[in-house]
Amino acid sequence: MNTARVEAFQSKIFDFYEKNRRSFPWRETTVRYAVMVSEIMLQQTQADRVARRFSLWLERFPDVQSLASASLREVLEAWSGLGYNSRGQRLHRAAVMIVEQFDGRVPADPSQLIRLPGIGAYTSRSIPVFADNLDIAAVDTNIRRVLIHELNLPESITPKALLDVADEVLPKGLSRDWHNALMDYGAMELTGRRTGIAPLTRQSAFKGSRRWYRGALLRELLAVGELSRESVEERYADCPHGIGTIVDSLVMESMIEEYGERRMLRIAGESGAGR
Ligand code: ADE
Repeated sequence: MNTARVEAFQSKIFDFYEKNRRSFPWRETTVRYAVMVSEIMLQQTQADRVARRFSLWLERFPDVQSLASASLREVLEAWSGLGYNSRGQRLHRAAVMIVEQFDGRVPADPSQLIRLPGIGAYTSRSIPVFADNLDIAAVDTNIRRVLIHELNLPESITPKALLDVADEVLPKGLSRDWHNALMDYGAMELTGRRTGIAPLTRQSAFKGSRRWYRGALLRELLAVGELSRESVEERYADCPHGIGTIVDSLVMESMIEEYGERRMLRIAGESGAGR
């Protein structure tokens, strides 16, 4: 791409950002742990909803150590309202691994970050972008849409090729601002509806979905502590997916545990006497 085109694109995005930048609590910090928390919360949850939860989370778990030593119950309680409880569980596991393998310090290297639970290609890059202003590109669904639309790229472009373009147009030394600016432009100016560019993945309809039943069951276990498998089968007799298979997968994922002759269910890691 020629220099003039790259510079025109950068100016357009930064001009928009100067006039329209959104303020979010995670934009006020460069602490890598806090950035990691925000990026994981933002993976599938809208920014406005994350904003409140993020600040409460940092009050409850101010650092990696406090998160690593928390119980799954405490983590899921703090996660409530964000959806996809397994994301909270993975963040918890990542904290444990960071304590064990990195002396409690969140690594800055994308190749180390990507090996942690809950951190994929985008997040392994976005953490050092926002925390350290690292000069690499991170492409989420919003940024993908902006690049495709503004640079006239085919929607069929591969993620690898798009990442190369994103690296090429990244203004060196301004990575943090640049990525915030791209996101604001994508969220406020160049919405999916306006461009017609479809995201690569789409959230499935929620009410009545497997995920909905998973959430309902976990919420109930958080509230009442334990339930027998039998009573769960009764309560969720209307579940079209078969509540038994949902219980099985939650057990397999170590979100809940089953114990005793009556096949009682509780949040994993609860001593029973503990609550
Ligand atoms: N989505 C993911 N990261 C974000 C950020 N830093 N600001 C706004 N939305 C985001």
